[in-house]
Amino acid sequence: MTPLVHASVEVIENVQVARQTYRIRLRCPALARAIRPGQFVMVRLSGHSDPLLGRPFALYDTVLDEGGQPVGIDVVYLIVGKATGLLSKHRQGDQLDVWGPLGNGFPDLKALDHIALVAGGIGQTPFLAYVRALLGARGYGGRSVQRTAQRVSLYYGVRSSDLAAGVADFLAAGATVHLASDDGTLGFRGFVTELLAGHETPQHLVGCGPEPMLHALAQLAGSWNVPCHLSLETPMACGVGICFSCVTRVRTAEGWDYRRVCVDGPIFDATDLVWS
Ligand SMILES: Cc1cc2nc3c(=O)[nH]c(=O)nc-3n(C[C@H](O)[C@H](O)[C@H](O)COP(=O)(O)OP(=O)(O)OC[C@H]3O[C@@H](n4cnc5c(N)ncnc54)[C@H](O)[C@@H]3O)c2cc1C
Ligand code: FES
Repeated sequence: MTPLVHASVEVIENVQVARQTYRIRLRCPALARAIRPGQFVMVRLSGHSDPLLGRPFALYDTVLDEGGQPVGIDVVYLIVGKATGLLSKHRQGDQLDVWGPLGNGFPDLKALDHIALVAGGIGQTPFLAYVRALLGARGYGGRSVQRTAQRVSLYYGVRSSDLAAGVADFLAAGATVHLASDDGTLGFRGFVTELLAGHETPQHLVGCGPEPMLHALAQLAGSWNVPCHLSLETPMACGVGICFSCVTRVRTAEGWDYRRVCVDGPIFDATDLVWS
């Protein structure tokens, strides 16, 4: 098991990348060496009692020094409330409390010709590091570099074009990008799952985004008979399995039971989830 890093870390930069959306770069070599795609960190605002609790954010990517050694991490976040609003005010040199790596991360897959990653809203954030890992461009968590997919497609849906963040990063990483927007200002007009349904069937699907999108993706995967993993973004208080604020329902031999998304997830096999 990867040891938990809990540290006060320095903000290297915090730049706006889309409407209400920022990429924050944190100096944290020990965490950057250990974290894998699909895992997340908890970020707490140092010196603040409101909000008191940390907030979970996916690894966007690791930051490497000139010698290729991991020295930091990038997190991309959308302002939705108090913590993310205050986070956007942080400047170079400010400190944040951070703990991680947390969660199970994306599963190890056998060699694939084509995998499709499907993102809605701010759900693209866990996928950049995953694209690099799948295409064998970067190793994470001390693992050796190994290419497991010949082709990676990103299907990315946003409400409107000015909320699309990181498209150039995904193209530079080697993904084929298909865009959708609710209002038609970017790419296909409609839901990202509708866009995906009109394309070739991949061998594996991975999704992250709002629950209705994940549910639609799970149904599409079922109709295609394609394996599908989903990354849940359930609100969390502790991130380490203590408070049970993050539970989701999964199928069991007896019916269903609760699982903590922070330690048993955030990635689940879509066929294990019970939809409300
Ligand atoms: C494993 C994981 C990874 C995540 N990765 C990212 C990421 O990379 N980038 C990013 O922007 N966000 C990510 N999130 C969501 C992020 O944690 C929340 O947006 C954040 O906690 C909001 O904090 P706040 O204080 O700004 O908002 P709050 O004041 O706590 O909430 C504001 C509003 O947003 C709603 N809300 C809060 N959290 C969530 C949530 N998780 N899902 C749906 N609605 C919510 C609240 O109900 C409320 O209406 C992730 C969540 C999880 C569980
Ligand atoms: S967030 Fe506390 S148990 Fe999951």
